[in-house]
Amino acid sequence: MQHEAHWWREAAIYQIYVRSFADSNGDGEGDLAGIRERLPHLTELGVDAIWLTPFYVSPLADGGYDVADYRDVDPRFGTLDDFDALLKDAHEQGIRLIIDVVPNHSSSEHVWFREAVAAEPGAPARARYIFRDGKGPDGEEPPNNWKSIFGGPAWTRLTRPDGTPEQWYLHLFDPGQPDFDWTHQEVHDEFDDVLRFWMDRGVDGFRIDVAHGMVKDPTLPDIDPDAKADMLDGSTSLPYFDQDGVHEIYRRWSRIAASYEGDRALVAEAWVEDSDRIARYLRPDELHQAFNFEYLTAPWDAARLREVIDGSLKANDAVGATTTWVLSNHDVVRHVTRFGDGEQGLRRARAATLLMLGLPGSAYIYQGEELGLPEVTDLPEDALQDPNWERSGRTERGRDGCRVPLPWEGETAPFGFGSEGSTPWLPMPERWAGLSRASQNGVEGSTLELYKTALRLRRELDALGDGSMNWLDSPEGVLYFEREPGVRVAVNMTEAPVELAASGEVLVASGPGVEVSEGTLTLPAESSAWLSA
Ligand code: GLC
Repeated sequence: MQHEAHWWREAAIYQIYVRSFADSNGDGEGDLAGIRERLPHLTELGVDAIWLTPFYVSPLADGGYDVADYRDVDPRFGTLDDFDALLKDAHEQGIRLIIDVVPNHSSSEHVWFREAVAAEPGAPARARYIFRDGKGPDGEEPPNNWKSIFGGPAWTRLTRPDGTPEQWYLHLFDPGQPDFDWTHQEVHDEFDDVLRFWMDRGVDGFRIDVAHGMVKDPTLPDIDPDAKADMLDGSTSLPYFDQDGVHEIYRRWSRIAASYEGDRALVAEAWVEDSDRIARYLRPDELHQAFNFEYLTAPWDAARLREVIDGSLKANDAVGATTTWVLSNHDVVRHVTRFGDGEQGLRRARAATLLMLGLPGSAYIYQGEELGLPEVTDLPEDALQDPNWERSGRTERGRDGCRVPLPWEGETAPFGFGSEGSTPWLPMPERWAGLSRASQNGVEGSTLELYKTALRLRRELDALGDGSMNWLDSPEGVLYFEREPGVRVAVNMTEAPVELAASGEVLVASGPGVEVSEGTLTLPAESSAWLSA
């Protein structure tokens, strides 16, 4: 199939968790000016685009995914002028910029929600959210049995200033994140306008938060009480996720994006397990790409990975969309740690990088993976900020361990993340000195140099990026494929060295000891390489 050469079809997109990237003013939180200062690092790394997580006005009940004003920057992160300056610099350096849009819910501090709370039950101001009377004689039970993804019920009851309890409102996430009612026309109009506001400023697209949410089964039916209401699972069908009506919204957004000059990308964050269901979001008149969470959640297992790769390519090809690959983001345990932590975790993570960047399509890189950062699993309890922690009755530590600020340079925390003596919003482990960017930059064999080389080759070689792939014969536990013209990707996922038939040269290898001689490629345990064919 011939495709238009949209930039996102083969982009390497770097995810910036704004709060943890670089802190320009020493208040302990990353900000837009900090990103701007560090942009040359990203140019040098060789990424094509960046995705910024929410920097909008927010009480940060869920790290900014609780937006109080969709059209302004939180003072902690900067100003609209800082945003414009960052966008301008990024464009000048050849880097595109996409931003998060959070349409399933707002913050409880949003002016609409404040109006709703102040209004009477049944008043028009309540209709933009999902308010219902409770069940039971005095309405003391929630309207249904839906559970919040962060733990506890998905409904919170309002209380009048005089203490009288009244209606309940729905929040699939934190109580500080009330769900919009997407049957209300004003909600549609508002988001049309929010998209336009940022596209007018020049953004290259949006990552759509909880893109499989928004539309609820209008009867709000109870769910199976044993259903796993965990969004990161996606295996259960739930009356508030992946409802058919959501596609109507994306057809409209697609037309809005297409009405702008330049290529504006719409990317779905949809935790839907089945790749055919995901592909429905990527039909030609809907969104452009979706995160491949089936790939992200696949275990270290060659047979399973091959199945996921084939399944993803097939489902996306069927709708003419490009496939994406992703190993980490701000919601999951960093892949070094998922793959076993320590030396083994890092070895596997590096091998997985050449696989991901060698596959057809585009790839998402989460800040810090280019440094080989592991999850921080020993954050002190009093430092934890993820709503998961409190909502789960302090049983789930949540996602802070992958959100620890980046180590840039120096021997002690905050490692250049902020000025000396500043206190980062999450403590940075002292053991990270050896992982800082400065300690890896220019150092042969470092994870940072591996990413740089791979990203450079990915740009230089026609075979990589968008296109197709052909599997080559390989023993169990090994993935081996060809990208035309002239590149082979080999990944040994076993714990023993393997030999494969190969000619050509090693272009890049994930670790030491990879060589081609007399028609044989030797790949040490848990390593990968790209070869010229
Ligand atoms: C998305 C975000 C996550 C957030 C949730 C609610 O999954 O990636 O961080 O908690 O949406 O907005």
